[in-house]
Amino acid sequence: MRDTEFEIVLFGAASYVGRLACAYLHGHGRDDPARPLRWAIAGRSEAKLLAVRDALGAGPGEPAIVTADALDSPAVSALAARAQVVLSTVGPYARFGTPLVEACVEAGADYCDLSGEVQWIRRMQTAFEQRARASGARIVHGCGFDAIPSDLGVRFLQQRVHERTGRYARRVKMRVESMRGGISGGTLASVMNLLEEAERNPSLRRELDDPYSLCPPHPRPVSQPKIDRARFDPDFEAWVAPFVMAAVNTRIVLRSNALAGYPYGEAFQYDEALLTGGGARGRLAALAITGATAGFAFAGAHAAARATLARLLPKPGRGPSAAVRARGHYRLAFLAITDDGTPHRARVTGDGDPGYGSTAAMFGQAGLCLARDVETVPGGFWTPATIFPDSLIERLRRHAGMTFEDCR
Ligand SMILES: NC(=O)c1ccc[n+]([C@@H]2O[C@H](COP(=O)([O-])OP(=O)(O)OC[C@H]3O[C@@H](n4cnc5c(N)ncnc54)[C@H](OP(=O)(O)O)[C@@H]3O)[C@@H](O)[C@H]2O)c1
Repeated sequence: MRDTEFEIVLFGAASYVGRLACAYLHGHGRDDPARPLRWAIAGRSEAKLLAVRDALGAGPGEPAIVTADALDSPAVSALAARAQVVLSTVGPYARFGTPLVEACVEAGADYCDLSGEVQWIRRMQTAFEQRARASGARIVHGCGFDAIPSDLGVRFLQQRVHERTGRYARRVKMRVESMRGGISGGTLASVMNLLEEAERNPSLRRELDDPYSLCPPHPRPVSQPKIDRARFDPDFEAWVAPFVMAAVNTRIVLRSNALAGYPYGEAFQYDEALLTGGGARGRLAALAITGATAGFAFAGAHAAARATLARLLPKPGRGPSAAVRARGHYRLAFLAITDDGTPHRARVTGDGDPGYGSTAAMFGQAGLCLARDVETVPGGFWTPATIFPDSLIERLRRHAGMTFEDCR
């Protein structure tokens, strides 16, 4: 392990989700009293970082402050050299994230982010995977609501299936039973940036449609199921509608299976959807969500409509109020179907706004887990399920308001 000044440097500490992550690390950096966290907050504006630190009410000079512009390669290299793990919330990552990933790869520093920008994640893998293997840097994208609950939820259920049957299931479904939360300007900016790139680039549109876009090349014996319209799901006896995060989560889950050497089989199938209930009401809700999702995608594909949406929706730096965050929660149902047709179920829940309160806690724990619990994993581009041991699930249960439940 590198001997560095800081265990964790949180880059983007003045961002909306960065401020929540700061408060979380400030509160939980002393969970182990024998080993208080050595950490720093970082960003481009010293004045904003000082304000973030003041708001924490910490002791003088705690945490330390590091200034760097995301596009200034020497500055982010100097930052990476001082950190065992860099956590970054500076997005859209496709616009601001590349120099920091390269700097971490060069320095052999570990790195986690909240990126759901699959096109950029794929570019980072292509550009830097070999160098990360050589330097020992462990790079983990998607350490927030996308994709930790999905990726660890699938692994958790598959472990239970394996304990009971000696085999893994080739088919897993995730259904969102309930979810409540808000959205930040930074998340919208990242989505808009992706839609803008896709409008300019037809080959990117094909890539975004490919469920295996983050996997190494391999035979594709099955096509992946995709819920892109209202339909009835007999396994849940309810109607389902498209779930926007599925486009990220399914790619990460399939990459996890690939990186682990296909324990669930090369023909493993995984999909995600929103449950809307049974009967006519469930059908109507599924149709309404399908229409709204298609409407947003259509508007986002056109520059003029994107500009209008950007005027109406939250701006970067803004996000859901504390009251909205406090009412947030989510409940995700996982169903594995084994070869003989036996169903096995699990549930993952969170008691905070999925994208913000809960994401800040998951992100903080992912950073702590990478800094303290993950020693022997070599450098490379990992996924949450392939790098984090079960101690992350324990951390999330104890310190992040999440549950992972076996529902036999
Ligand atoms: N995976 C998930 O579940 C999840 C959940 C939440 C958010 N996210 C992602 O997390 C990211 C942050 O979201 P957010 O709502 O917190 O965004 P935000 O409030 O708009 O913050 C963006 C941050 O980037 C910083 N920044 C911009 N350009 C920079 C530069 N050149 N150098 C250094 N810093 C720069 C900004 O600094 P200034 O403050 O100085 O302007 C700001 O702090 C987004 O990409 C979002 O999609 C993912």
